Amino acid sequence: MTTNFQFQEWLSNHSERAETALDGLLDSAKTTPNRLHEAMRYAAQGGGKRIRPLLVYAAGSLGDPKTQALDAAAVAIECIHAYSLVHDDLPCMDDDDLRRGRPTVHKAFDEATALLVGDALQTRAFEILANAQCEVDVRLLMISALAAASGSRGMAGGQAIDLESVGKKLDLAGLKQMHAMKTGALLSCAVELGGIAAHLNPTQMAQLQKYSTALGLAFQIIDDVLDATADSQTLGKTAGKDAAANKPTYVTLMGLDYAQKQAKDLQETAIASLADFGSKADALKDLAFLVVNRAK
Ligand code: IPE
Ligand code: IPE
Ligand code: MG
Ligand code: MG
Ligand code: MG
Repeated sequence: MTTNFQFQEWLSNHSERAETALDGLLDSAKTTPNRLHEAMRYAAQGGGKRIRPLLVYAAGSLGDPKTQALDAAAVAIECIHAYSLVHDDLPCMDDDDLRRGRPTVHKAFDEATALLVGDALQTRAFEILANAQCEVDVRLLMISALAAASGSRGMAGGQAIDLESVGKKLDLAGLKQMHAMKTGALLSCAVELGGIAAHLNPTQMAQLQKYSTALGLAFQIIDDVLDATADSQTLGKTAGKDAAANKPTYVTLMGLDYAQKQAKDLQETAIASLADFGSKADALKDLAFLVVNRAK
């Protein structure tokens, strides 16, 4: 952790900012069709660590973003993330009943609604970015970055590799690629959106990319570690799923100690990439620490 920066205060302020922005940019449950909008809110609100919005805000603080554009980016990426979780939990994917300490969307509502929640959260994300209150070129760059990170070369592609890999033994390079795509791409994109909104220059964006590539991989390694070591109550999702479903993970392939050490090394790499930003990057540094040392 950095020393002089009041990270807990920053965290609580910006978590609240993310909740308020989400509440303001999602359709009301009174909008027709009510049940779909209620289910979209159920999926996106009520829990979640909000790591991606926090990364948007932390990267945005390195430059001079328009306030509303940063909120739009924070909400858009969280909508894509929430959609990815709703679909990840479906019976045709990981078949999970518990998410963020509550029944998954297809359990609380039904499967068809869960599919549509994912569809509609995804399109809402791009609508929010297209309407962000900032320069047209900033909007276009944000839309392009989010589309690339969400699609077949990013999150959705990583999920495809995940499903193809059940019961198989991936090598370390294959596992890294799967993690970088299914999870790393959206985390990197969160940082990128903040940087775009803040008008950072190409050198700064390249430094941020080094940070977020390391952070993204560390994030999924820790997700794998927690799946194997924490309990469902703490996680708010079913623990031990990866082993039960025969998924290749950092823990099954390399062992717990290696996975934990690797995550720590990536935390150091991520933080070192921010050297040129000085104390302005304290929030990003402390977020890297949080990601690797979290309990859920
Ligand atoms: C869980 O993400 C799914 C992965 C990409 C590993 P988070 O751990 O960020 O889930 P929430 O948003 O806090 O519920
Ligand atoms: C999911 O990875 C990554 C996504 C794109 C949602 P996991 O399947 O390991 O995520 P959890 O453990 O269910 O949250
Ligand atoms: Mg999965
Ligand atoms: Mg899952
Ligand atoms: Mg997992």
